[in-house]
Amino acid sequence: MQREPQTQGGVPRPTVISVRGLTKSFGDRDVLRGVDLDVHEAENVVVLGRSGSGKSVLIKIIIGLLEPDEGSVEVLGQTVRGLSQRAMDALRRQVGFSFQNSALYDSMNVSENLAFPLRMNTTGLSTHEVRDRVYDALEAVGLVSAVMQMPSELSGGQRKRIGIARTLILRPKIMLYDEPTAGLDPITSGEINDLINQVQQTYHTSSIIITHDLTCARNTADRVAMLLDGRMQRVGSFAEVFDTTDPQVKSFYDYNFTNSEPR
Ligand SMILES: Nc1ncnc2c1ncn2[C@@H]1O[C@H](COP(=O)(O)OP(=O)(O)O)[C@@H](O)[C@H]1O
Ligand SMILES: [Mg+2]
Repeated sequence: MQREPQTQGGVPRPTVISVRGLTKSFGDRDVLRGVDLDVHEAENVVVLGRSGSGKSVLIKIIIGLLEPDEGSVEVLGQTVRGLSQRAMDALRRQVGFSFQNSALYDSMNVSENLAFPLRMNTTGLSTHEVRDRVYDALEAVGLVSAVMQMPSELSGGQRKRIGIARTLILRPKIMLYDEPTAGLDPITSGEINDLINQVQQTYHTSSIIITHDLTCARNTADRVAMLLDGRMQRVGSFAEVFDTTDPQVKSFYDYNFTNSEPR
């Protein structure tokens, strides 16, 4: 199926994240050197880059956990820099982030783990409504059967799914996935990729998926942005990004597909 992320019926889709001229250094290490990135409504954008290239730093700046040195970030029409704590909290409730090791609470069962962010971030939901939302979120990740299980009883892939469900329960407009397939075997990785696509289709969320896993990129991306030397060097469909003789891009491709597949 041909994906058409930037327009819908010829009408441009609204931009939900707009990053311009972002720079960030740590000491004398210039990690981001002028990053531009747009994410449109209901679009999956994959940010590809080697380990240490600044992908997590970029996500942290987008959600206001780190301050950039220069440049601007707009999320859902709001300039992130200078937001009051209250406005920032409100904005973050619309942005779900699934961190690499988004740990579940070991002492709570799955249902309690999912209800927790709901109770922290919403007021006035009845026990019934909380229960419905828990089941909706579990249904979205295909794990209703795990509702009473403890995290220790789940596989790595199931824990990842529950982590995503816990994020979805707040019905975010934007999802940020940091290395969603890291440490998973190829079959489980494939399931997580399918889940990312399903979330997009079911909830029309806009997502940034950060990864160095090319299979994940190929299977989830409407657009790929390749972070190399602190800039988005190539942006386009997966095929467009890799249809190049640029040795750095080619070596990234070759390295990935010769060293990490099959894993
Ligand atoms: N809070 C920090 N203080 C100092 N250096 C940092 C900090 N966060 C990230 N870095 C450095 O920035 C670089 C990019 O990190 P990161 O964004 O985590 O890479 P990745 O692309 O693997 O996610 C790394 O060299 C890392 O050591
Ligand atoms: Mg990272």
